[in-house]
Amino acid sequence: MNHHFPLPQGGELILHRYPRHAQHGLQAWDAADEYIMNELATQEWSREAPLLIVNDGCGALTLALHQHSPYVMTDSRVAELALNANALDNGLEPTWQLLDSLAPWPEQPGLVLLKLPKTNAMLEYQLAALSRVAGPQTRLIAGAKAKDIHGSTLKLFEQYLGPTHTSLAWKKARLIFCAPDPAKAPAPLPPLLAWPLEGTGFTIYNHANLFSRASLDIGARFLLEHLPADRPGRMIDLGCGNGVLGLMALARNPQAQVSFVDESHMAVASARMNLERNLPAAEPRARFMVNNCLEGMAPDSADLVLCNPPFHQQQAITDHIAWQMFVDAKRVLRRGGELLLVANRHLDYHQKLKRLFGNQRVVASNRKFVILRAIKTP
Ligand SMILES: C[S@@+](CC[C@H](N)C(=O)[O-])C[C@H]1O[C@@H](n2cnc3c(N)ncnc32)[C@H](O)[C@@H]1O
Repeated sequence: MNHHFPLPQGGELILHRYPRHAQHGLQAWDAADEYIMNELATQEWSREAPLLIVNDGCGALTLALHQHSPYVMTDSRVAELALNANALDNGLEPTWQLLDSLAPWPEQPGLVLLKLPKTNAMLEYQLAALSRVAGPQTRLIAGAKAKDIHGSTLKLFEQYLGPTHTSLAWKKARLIFCAPDPAKAPAPLPPLLAWPLEGTGFTIYNHANLFSRASLDIGARFLLEHLPADRPGRMIDLGCGNGVLGLMALARNPQAQVSFVDESHMAVASARMNLERNLPAAEPRARFMVNNCLEGMAPDSADLVLCNPPFHQQQAITDHIAWQMFVDAKRVLRRGGELLLVANRHLDYHQKLKRLFGNQRVVASNRKFVILRAIKTP
């Protein structure tokens, strides 16, 4: 595994993914990061106006450009933690200002470097936000794998900002260059997606970067059928997304408290909004936390962890996050406490739970999913 990110001016950074013990054969930067840095070495750009770096995965761009005191905007807590850890490893003091994905964008940036987000919904949100602060001197360079840049992607840049062209492919990456047109009216931010939660009077609101933002996830629907009712205690909605599991846990368990945890700022903001708008009386029983799994949460402090685990993070498809979630759940559960999860049938989570907890039980199954329960034994 290569940990040496080459800098065009000479030298290199040592970069790891976060957490450091879980590299899983994945590099902490991609060819688009290198391409952006090589491109900048040949370009003039305004150093007086703010430099803004958006969606930097593990800090490659931020650390390579730290001397310009960039604004760094990300939706991902894991990306923030990776940046901090890599800064420390390279002996770099933070010169950058972190902004979460819902924060106001800096006015009139000179240069914006954008790693293409996973979904067009998030891209549209970010291009619309940029259209509202761009000045006449603003230039945008976006980078991604060439296979992820489609004609429709480029149309979005033109629609929201202005004239756009692309580079040649290099190491299977491509750059997008865009000069926002000052004559174009700023675009309104795309509205939240909202849908009724079946069988309830609730409406679920979703920010741009949400998992299953257009409808209820079918795994979540299955787990909702098997949520406990009328139990007291401290529950956690781990990887809460829009918070649909925790919201229903609060509704069905009037004595319980729920902590909503996700690594995405937009997810936690959506979960908070969904509770405020649908079940405001339960707000005193809820906590919200942007976190990598259950990092830093006290051991033996929860009675039930609900989880619909992700199978990708930062563009990479992997089950190490699910594993980390199970390990953290075991630590945070009290003895006798339970992890209740939904998973695709074809994943071997039964074995993972058996290995970790020494027990697991199939609570229910259908053609696609299983609901599994593991108990933390004394
Ligand atoms: C499959 S979705 C489930 C969302 C929601 N609970 C549902 O059932 O519809 C998994 C969620 O895990 C979150 N996630 C991914 N990596 C995470 C991590 N390291 N720590 C906390 N949450 C994470 C994702 O942002 C996503 O919202």
